[in-house]
Amino acid sequence: MERIPLDEFVKAPYINVLTYPRPNLRLAKARLKQLRKLSVTEIAFAGRTKIGRLGLVGIGTVSLVVRASVEGQVYALKVRRSDANRESMFNEYTLTQLANAAGVGAFVYSATNDFMLMQLVEGEDFHDHLKMIVGTGARGRTREIIHLLLNQCRKLDLINLDHGQLSDLRKHVIMAGDTPYIIDFESASRDRTPKNVTTCAQYLFIGGRSAPLVKRLLGVKSHEPLLKALKEYKRDMSDENYVKLLARVGIII
Ligand SMILES: Nc1ncnc2c1ncn2[C@@H]1O[C@H](COP(=O)(O)OP(=O)(O)O)[C@@H](O)[C@H]1O
Ligand SMILES: [Mg+2]
Repeated sequence: MERIPLDEFVKAPYINVLTYPRPNLRLAKARLKQLRKLSVTEIAFAGRTKIGRLGLVGIGTVSLVVRASVEGQVYALKVRRSDANRESMFNEYTLTQLANAAGVGAFVYSATNDFMLMQLVEGEDFHDHLKMIVGTGARGRTREIIHLLLNQCRKLDLINLDHGQLSDLRKHVIMAGDTPYIIDFESASRDRTPKNVTTCAQYLFIGGRSAPLVKRLLGVKSHEPLLKALKEYKRDMSDENYVKLLARVGIII
């Protein structure tokens, strides 16, 4: 872990992160002002993702994420990539706030044009976490995890917010122990039919990388009743159809 006071962020090699993918001093200085507005005092570089020698929390297509301190507390700071096809972080900020209001997602605190300050979720990949679930109680734990995750999707469906990228849970869910956090609302929308439950269930039980593992852990054998329940839910997103879906995968009886 390498920690720097905020002012160092405009210097090499840190500027390579601040204005990724190209160092740009003018942009870096403008961005520093934004970080002061967010009361960020320190940046820390740690993580398996690297830019040069500097470790990051993560990198995506429109942003990268580093650890940042505000008043002695550590947060995840989402930094807009300068090659991003988004003008600002404000849309993602608004959509994340909506999710948060429904109790879903890593909590977001503040944003400027190029940054978003949010709760740092320290955890692991969804698939890697599931692989570690073995032995007595494995089925119960898996049920709990999948139930929590589907309930979060259900909440998003109910507020008419479609996440848009739940077809790849590996990139969009962080497991903090057995608690799943949905992240990255940059592609979310209020203008589409929400497909959170169906997309997530499709990944979990049918097409996703984790599907064979999830089915084995839950003891789900046949697809037919599940597909039928998904189709019903798609047609009518009622509480009743949601509960039926949970029953089909053995989460509730
Ligand atoms: N709040 C957070 N806490 C911990 N890690 C995060 C958080 N937000 C994002 N990450 C990590 O950073 C990576 C990139 O973030 P993401 O939101 O997917 O960026 P993008 O909007 O560019 O797709 C994620 O895959 C994840 O590993
Ligand atoms: Mg992403």
